[in-house]
Order: sequence, then structure tokens, then C-alpha cells
Amino acid sequence: MVRRATITGLGKYVPPKVLTNFDLEKMVDTTDEWITRRVGIKERHIVEGEMTSSEMGIEAARKALDMSGLSAEKLDLIIVATVTPDMLFPATACILQEKLGAVGAATFDLEAGCSGFVYGLAVAAQFIETGMYANALVVGSETLSKITDWEDRDTCVLFGDGAGAAVLQATEQGGMLAFELGSDGSGAKSLYLPGGGSLNPSNQKTIAEKQHFIKMEGNQVFKFAVKTMGQASLDVLAKAGLLPEDVDLLIPHQANTRIIEAAAKRLNLPGEKVFVNLAKYGNTSSASVPIALLEAHQRELIKNGDIIVLVAFGAGLTWASTVMEWNEGVKT
Ligand code: UT7
Repeated sequence: MVRRATITGLGKYVPPKVLTNFDLEKMVDTTDEWITRRVGIKERHIVEGEMTSSEMGIEAARKALDMSGLSAEKLDLIIVATVTPDMLFPATACILQEKLGAVGAATFDLEAGCSGFVYGLAVAAQFIETGMYANALVVGSETLSKITDWEDRDTCVLFGDGAGAAVLQATEQGGMLAFELGSDGSGAKSLYLPGGGSLNPSNQKTIAEKQHFIKMEGNQVFKFAVKTMGQASLDVLAKAGLLPEDVDLLIPHQANTRIIEAAAKRLNLPGEKVFVNLAKYGNTSSASVPIALLEAHQRELIKNGDIIVLVAFGAGLTWASTVMEWNEGVKT
């Protein structure tokens, strides 16, 4: 019998405050029409006050544990994918573990930009497949509003805050069939945050130069994403011995509807087999795929036995995909 990892629980959290395109029109030189046509976003959720990535992650994690019926003490591993950790160290996963009461879990953060959640699924699945661990939690949580330059129209219209979480357990039927992970560090400066690390430790100069905000060459990332999302989906299907026509639902990273459409076209998938919720949330980086997966599940677009592809791209530049035969009920 093959032992694989399968998702047995999903959860999400988005902060209540909504920032619409019309709100942004009052902040920078942009229009609802431009954002809708060029990106596909109508509104995004933004944290208020002190809310952190770990606090949003906790909310999503609790719901994922509820759905799976697993108690936090039974978790062997917690991976938090984020580019907006609570602090540079310790890992946000450690903070989340303590608040969750997951006393038996090993914890670490994983930083692969917007590909982080799918990277995290791949890592957690390896521990489950080998038998080292039985129960893992993968969280993607981002407070991107805190690293966004709200005077930069090139970036501030794109991002939103939120968290998604998945509980992974062992199965002998279906589950995650294959993974495809990659990176191209030559694109590191297409999308980055220059300040606050060992290269540019925070000081008055880095703050004056706004180095603590996201910098992006949108066009470069766009070209990379269009090329990568379709290819990573095809590659992971080939690894699992499947064809694009076997796919029941594609859940892509939610960054730009034009990027998503290009990926769908590469796989020759009709619109109803591609899940898009970008208009409501914007790009929530590592939270986007788990939030979309949960919403697809809530809308009953996913049932046991379905072939689901998750695919993402992000800072690094990185890409990641997985194909799974959905099976949330059968555990070893
Ligand atoms: O998860 C990964 C995160 N990053 C991404 O997903 C980004 C991927 N890239 C993209 O989605 C697109 O490249 C953008 C949405 C960022 C930009 O779209 P684009 O079609 O590549 O536009 P552009 O950068 O070529 O700009 C076209 C025009 C420019 O004006 P000119 O030079 O033609 O006069 C920009 O100045 O649109 C202008 N522009 C805006 N106009 C109104 C750029 N941002 C805005 C804005 N509102 N917010």
C-alpha cells in the first residue's frame, strides 16, 4: 500500500475591514476601471491595529482542525508559509504553536513567496509519506498591508491580508499524488523587500528610502508567471501520469486574472474548471491558494475522487504545484 498525505481539514480567516478600488482612487492616482481590467481585483481585506500574521493564522488553523476532527495536541508538525512573519525570529510557526496549544509539534517557517503554501504542502507530505509524522498543519498567513507602500500605485492596488490553513494526514487512497517545485534566483530583484535583513539592516536611511516596503517589476513577474503557471501544472500532471483533461478543478495562485487565464489556456481548461476569487481578496500571497481551496470546497465544487491541481508562483522567483485526488475522509 502506498502511504500518501491528504487534506482532511481546511480553514481561512480574513480581517473584517474591506478596502475597495474606490477607496484606493482616493489614495493614489488609479481607477476602479484600471484595476478591474488589468488585474481583476475589486476589493481586498486589510488588518487593523495590532493584528499579526500569527493571529490570523491561528483563526484559520482552528477551523482547519475543527473540520478534520483532530485536536491540536495531536499535531506532529506545523509549517507557516509567510513573507510577513510576526518578527524576523523566532518563527511565526512557534508563536502559532504556543497559542494553539500544539505542544507536540515541530515548527518552522517556510519562505517561498506566494508559492509558500504549496511548497509547505510538499514538505509536510514528505514527512507523512515516510511515516515520520502522522498529522501536519500547513498555514499560509500574510499581513501584506504592513509592508505595502500606500503611495505606490504600482503595488498598493494588488495586495490583501488573510490566512488559510490545511491539516494533512496519512491515507492509502488518493491524496497528494505528485509535486513540482522550482525557483529561479536570477529574478530575486523582480519582487523583493530590500530593508531589515543583513544586507540593509533597518536604520533611518533605509526607512527614508522606503526599503521596508515591497518593490516589484510588475512586467517581469507577469511574464514569469504566464510562462510558469501553465508549465508547472503540466509537469506535475505528467509526474502523476495524468492529462489536463483529467483535471476537475485548477486552483491557481490569485494574483491577476490575465495570468490565471493564460494558465487555463495552456491546459485547455474551460472556465468552470478554474477557481477564481481574486476580485474579493486581491493577492494574499501564501494565503491565496488555501483560501481559494477552502472556498471551492464550501461551494461544493470539490468531492472525493476529484483531481485537483494547485499551482502558484511568487517572489524568489519560485513556483510550486501539486496534484491530488481529493480524499478528506479516508485515513489510515
Ligand atoms: O504574487 C506575485 C505578485 N506579483 C504579481 O502578481 C504581479 C504580476 N504583474 C502584474 O500583475 C501586472 O504586471 C501589473 C498588474 C502589476 C501591471 O499590469 P501591466 O499590464 O503589466 O501594466 P504596466 O506595468 O505595463 O503599466 C501599464 C500602464 C502604465 O502607464 P503608461 O506607462 O502606459 O502610461 C502604468 O504607469 O498602467 C499604469 N499603471 C496604473 N494605472 C492606473 C500602473 N499601475 C497603475 C494603477 N492605476 N494602479
